[in-house]
Amino acid sequence: MANESEVLSQSNLEFEAPASIAEHAHINAVNYEKLYQESIANPEEFWSKIATEEIHWFKKWDKVLEWNYPQYKWFSGGLLNITYNCLDRHVENGKANTTAYIYTNEEGKEERISYLELLEKVNRFANALKGMGVVKGDRVTIYMPLTIEQIVAILACARIGAIHSVVYAGFSAAALRLRIEDAQSKVVVCSAYTKRRGKILPLKSVVDEAVDGLVYVEKIIIHQREQKFELVEKEVDYYDFIYHQSTHLEAEPMEAETPLYILYTSGTTGKPKGVLHTVGGYNVYTHYTTKIAFDLKPDDIFWCTADTGWVTGHSYIVYGPLSNGLTSVIFEGAPDFPDPGIWWSLIEKYRVTKFYTAPTAVRLFMKMGEKWPNQYDLSSLKILGSVGEPINPEAWLWYYKYIGREKCAIIDTWWQTETGGHMVLSLPACKQKPGKAGRPFFGIELDVVNKQGESLGPNTVGLLVIKKPWPSALRTCYGEPERFEKYWNEMPGFYFAGDLATKDEDGFIMILGRADDVLNVSGHRIGTAEVESALVSSNSVAEAAVIGKPHEVKGQSIKAFIILRQGVMSSENLIQTIKHHVRNELGAIGVPDEIEIVNSLPKTRSGKIMRRVLKAKELGTDIGDVSTLED
Ligand code: WT7
Repeated sequence: MANESEVLSQSNLEFEAPASIAEHAHINAVNYEKLYQESIANPEEFWSKIATEEIHWFKKWDKVLEWNYPQYKWFSGGLLNITYNCLDRHVENGKANTTAYIYTNEEGKEERISYLELLEKVNRFANALKGMGVVKGDRVTIYMPLTIEQIVAILACARIGAIHSVVYAGFSAAALRLRIEDAQSKVVVCSAYTKRRGKILPLKSVVDEAVDGLVYVEKIIIHQREQKFELVEKEVDYYDFIYHQSTHLEAEPMEAETPLYILYTSGTTGKPKGVLHTVGGYNVYTHYTTKIAFDLKPDDIFWCTADTGWVTGHSYIVYGPLSNGLTSVIFEGAPDFPDPGIWWSLIEKYRVTKFYTAPTAVRLFMKMGEKWPNQYDLSSLKILGSVGEPINPEAWLWYYKYIGREKCAIIDTWWQTETGGHMVLSLPACKQKPGKAGRPFFGIELDVVNKQGESLGPNTVGLLVIKKPWPSALRTCYGEPERFEKYWNEMPGFYFAGDLATKDEDGFIMILGRADDVLNVSGHRIGTAEVESALVSSNSVAEAAVIGKPHEVKGQSIKAFIILRQGVMSSENLIQTIKHHVRNELGAIGVPDEIEIVNSLPKTRSGKIMRRVLKAKELGTDIGDVSTLED
């Protein structure tokens, strides 16, 4: 942990919320304070009210929260179907023809799907899954790019209670296989390919490799797109699979704690953990945070640029927006192709009002210059969101000026795969402080503490902890309950988020990055241990240590120090081979930007690699206490 007593110089930048937003906002500066206090004084009453007002239940819950530390249940005994809330209720309430998604891609293809059409397609897919024997609790792995077909597959699982495990379509065959094996998925749904920057990236062949020999995988459903494969054995075409199915399927009432999905994320050990979310609390929390953070209004056009392979896509492309009956834009492609104006052209074309992206993207656009956004009419925009890593004041100001044209609210949102939804944010109608994530959402009681769990004074660096469970908190790590317990045991009594933070006099939280061995590269989370184990699994690497280095666009870049195996000669070719190996193991996200060959690594006497020492040396900063260093 960084120097605990280090007092950060306060960033003095402050912006008042745009008056046009503050005047009509669901939550303004005055009622935030009041409602926040109420929500903390009595979170159960607060969530009970929200769950009643915002969500449809077939049967009301018996108890709002049951907390048997560290386990918790929300709305237990309550019956709902998250897809009923996302689809049927809008169809029944006059929104059958409202567009749910506008899909577009780098070739300018456009597809629109209404709430009724989406419901019918989901039902057909769900009926087909049922027909092949998929039942509640079965796992289904989805390996697809951001398409309507992917969202249909996700919702079809949710409709019947099958647990979806979406794997980002940039992961390698080895990474996909690990996730299929961990979940023991009965079904894999994939796309033949995706296109990025004009190039076809095959996905079906990755799946072939990933499922080879896995007998429990009963079916592979392939969205073939323009490519047609000769299908063998377990394989079936996506549209053949749903072709004869009925568009009708009653939404089955499910108990609030029914598992909804598993999403794998990186931790401090080599193996990713399967974060599990359940239907009730997750539906309530993602619905309400979407509504409040983006101050939803009936005519909004929403665009979250994340991929559905990450939690941001799950909560703020799929469940949160649909539960609110929103119209969302989804774009399958890169941010700078055919040219760096593509995103701004889409905002102009679709009159996007609420936009949600990552600081790494903002910094990329900053580098390419404001001449790109300046060519487009961005006057429809009202709220600009940020997620994934701290947004540095420079990027904040650029976003504010060149995208928001000094009239939009910028909302930073701090949260995690584990939290399911926004935890700390700058609400659009409240004061904004560039570089600071903001204040806690309703019902979230948090603090910045030292290692002993004692609350720290203002502007002092410490560990961010959350004091009580919230509705969309992870329920377990799939198959590894001990890893779940660690979140609540590391700092006894609290949920330990793993981030370093400060809190200022106004209660604004500033996030300073991870306190553990987890990296954040372009907003993607990757464990140093994951990269290290991928490195040592190559036949030329004996030992490896990985650190994160500050990077202008990506936030962090990966640097690896390796010791070669005996007899292996170093060469530029070798470095490329090792990088290639890591790509095969983890996918592009995990590939080190730099690999340095060394003769030894700094270790403690008990043999633990001291990455901190390597990092200090690399960055030329103070090495700190090295009394435990062996050599
Ligand atoms: C970690 C969680 C939440 C969806 C995307 C990432 C970092 C996330 C912010 C932010 C500063 C942030 C934290 C966190 N992080 N959002 N607004 N400001 N840091 O989800 O992959 O689970 O990663 O991302 O370090 O712990 P994730």
